[in-house]
Amino acid sequence: MNLRAGRLGKKMSEDAATFTSSLEFDKYIFEADIECNRAHTTMLSKQGIIESSTAQEILEALDELKSEGIDALDLDPSVEDIHMALENYVTAKIGKKAGFMHTAKSRNDQVATDLRIVLRQKIIEIQIDILDFIEGLVDLASEHTETVIIGYTHLQHAQPTTFAHHLMAYTHSLKRDYERLKDTYKRVNINPLGSAAMTTTSFPINREITTKILGFDSYMENSMDAVSSRDFIAETIFDLSMLLTTISKICEEMVLWSTHEFGLITISDEFSSTSSIMPQKKNPDVAEIARAKSAVLYGELNTILTILKAIPYTYNRDLQEITPHLWNGIETAHSTLNIVREMVLSIKINKKRGLELARANFATATDLADVIVREKQIPFRIAHKIVGRMVTDALATNMKPEDIDAAFLDEITEEISGSPLGLSNDLISKALDPLENIKMRKVPGGPSPEMVNLTLKNLKTFLSNEEDYLNTKNI
Ligand code: ARG
Repeated sequence: MNLRAGRLGKKMSEDAATFTSSLEFDKYIFEADIECNRAHTTMLSKQGIIESSTAQEILEALDELKSEGIDALDLDPSVEDIHMALENYVTAKIGKKAGFMHTAKSRNDQVATDLRIVLRQKIIEIQIDILDFIEGLVDLASEHTETVIIGYTHLQHAQPTTFAHHLMAYTHSLKRDYERLKDTYKRVNINPLGSAAMTTTSFPINREITTKILGFDSYMENSMDAVSSRDFIAETIFDLSMLLTTISKICEEMVLWSTHEFGLITISDEFSSTSSIMPQKKNPDVAEIARAKSAVLYGELNTILTILKAIPYTYNRDLQEITPHLWNGIETAHSTLNIVREMVLSIKINKKRGLELARANFATATDLADVIVREKQIPFRIAHKIVGRMVTDALATNMKPEDIDAAFLDEITEEISGSPLGLSNDLISKALDPLENIKMRKVPGGPSPEMVNLTLKNLKTFLSNEEDYLNTKNI
């Protein structure tokens, strides 16, 4: 079928055909395009718009194409796109009657429909893998609710916490990344088919039928919007940019923690490389590449938004140029997610080092100040001053937290407030012990093992609810 025969006198130049063809990336929508044509043809027949025998022939040809696969199509750039290649295939099979398939349908609503069909599937696949990552982190965290590490602010030792509590920070970021995709899915899974070129059609089509056959939740209510909007793509790529931001931050910590200076974790050899010249080296390359991959997503998001911003309503061919960036974004995000999950779940934590760091720098000072407030009814600001002076004096004389006793604190307090503090050695050493300190933080969201266990329990409920939800999505 030569689409140009009616209006155009000459063939497109070879260069122009190659330049404008979308065939290279249309492989992603090959099966969706068959589905879309099947649904449309079925609806046309049900509505009495085309003969049911013609519809039957078209459907059979489409089924044959499905079983033969994309290689059965003539994918020469002069064909323009997959929609034409598919129509040509059906024409070759059943002759001119194939042309009825295109009644009340345009490539404009067709491509928008195909993209949504494929994208909703990809979203679900990524969601499944995010849940897998969260599940792995939940299992890892369950073993480490009493594994003490130091927490940082400004990358300076701040307060002790547990490895489990830190991993829970990862899971909650990932949970939001998951929920963002779930929300986006609602706006992806709406049917543009029936909008035709831009103003629907005068044929009595039934959009509810194609919506149902294609598994959409509803159809798009404005046909001009339906053929020209791609915000569902921009939104997905933003969600994935955010997901890779989470992942990049995690990778940054894997890189830092595996250094000699931190010495907190060992990354499995399977996810490390060495140097071609320095035989002793073990490098965290997977984490580094993953950190960089987030930039690819930001680039794709920027490209997509920039293509979209100045397109007049309705369909313009610029929209085609968005598609490769969508697929690249999806594949980059998905593969990064999967490899990072495996890498992170392979790490071994050095518990001794965690505790050593937590003890090294008076990271429990806040709690000592809190104990002073609680036990001696001294205002927090004064307690803060007493403990601050205590740390300065201890550092000046090379004292460690375990060397601090009641007499030392009494002396400092007397200087500051005129009378000794009178806190027992037992309370002082308890306040300065990292694990005791952590156990006292029983506020929801905090690091005490009971609170982390509660979070773990909540996450397990979340995981099982979401697995049920994803099972309804027919993968
Ligand atoms: N390949 C096109 C795309 O991806 C399909 C729609 C073409 N529509 C048209 N009027 N040329 O957007």
